[in-house]
Amino acid sequence: MVQWPKYVQLKEVGPRDGLQNEKTWIPTEDKVDWVNKLSESGVKEIEISSFVNPKWIPALADARELGRRITRNPDVSYSALVPNMKGLEYALEADIDGSSVFMSASETHNRNNINKSINETYPVLGEVIHASKKAGKRVTGYVSTVFDCPYEGKVSPEQVIRVCDQLFEYGADNISLGDTIGSAVPSQVEALLEKVLARFPEDKIIMHFHNTRGMAIANIMTSLRYGITRFDSAVGGLGGCPYAPGAAGNVATNDVLYLLHGLGINTGINERKIEEAAFFIQNKLGKELPSKSLAYASAK
Ligand code: HMG
Ligand code: MG
Repeated sequence: MVQWPKYVQLKEVGPRDGLQNEKTWIPTEDKVDWVNKLSESGVKEIEISSFVNPKWIPALADARELGRRITRNPDVSYSALVPNMKGLEYALEADIDGSSVFMSASETHNRNNINKSINETYPVLGEVIHASKKAGKRVTGYVSTVFDCPYEGKVSPEQVIRVCDQLFEYGADNISLGDTIGSAVPSQVEALLEKVLARFPEDKIIMHFHNTRGMAIANIMTSLRYGITRFDSAVGGLGGCPYAPGAAGNVATNDVLYLLHGLGINTGINERKIEEAAFFIQNKLGKELPSKSLAYASAK
């Protein structure tokens, strides 16, 4: 019998990854209500928004106002994407608890996403990580396209490890490995984790799966077997990267909770409250979200 971990920590990325690709503008007051609902679900970290250029990600243009208006639950860490020092200045004004810096393991996705080569990105993120740590903030480093790049195809574990090495060297507390286009199958997860975990401790690695081809749950199971106990997910299965054409949403928090709780793994998160938060944002967006558990709950 596989020994499942006793506890798994989920980071709710719905307000950031979930909304960044949405055409429908969600008014700030609705985002505030939504984040407040999520704050009461038992989740320990919520990525509330992005301090990127609003010209590129208009859906999250109100990040500063959102940070100021949400009700803080002292048991929750509120983080956000921070691409550069300008973003960090705004993020600190919004009183975030953690900075999430981000870059890609593949050159072309990195350029399309953040307008720089990988080598040009390093010093920018290095400065953000140092300044964030100095301000007492925790830092997660996202590495995107860790399996496949929408422009270049296969990405090698060595490319991924090179970027992880640099981000850890700058002082990142942990790294989230992104299957940005949701293309990986479990054998790819195994191949990457074999190499990554030979180099970094498993409690420093978070997995971030998009569910484009319905493989995310299988990939989470595989990661659990490798001792990974931290995952990113979005309520209802919202999400997508505007610079990853065809990619679908994040794995749905609702579906991950059904899996983990079914396996007897504690998350501290109340499934009913996540369901309510998913219905809330589904109504605001006016479209059905992809989560299977949510569809089941709707049909009941
Ligand atoms: P840039 O154009 O290279 O920046 O943007 P720049 O320094 O040359 O400045 C150009 C203009 O942008 C200037 O304004 C700056 O003030 C402004 P102008 O003088 O022309 O009026 N600017 C900013 N404004 C507000 N906030 C800022 C900021 N920085 C510059 N922080 C930048 C570089 C990265 C900012 C830009 O390319 C950008 O915003 N990109 C969006 C990237 C993004 O949000 N992508 C989606 C998230 S990543 C993701 O989804 C993957 C992940 O989920 C993991 C996975 O799934 O794998 C994390
Ligand atoms: Mg993502």
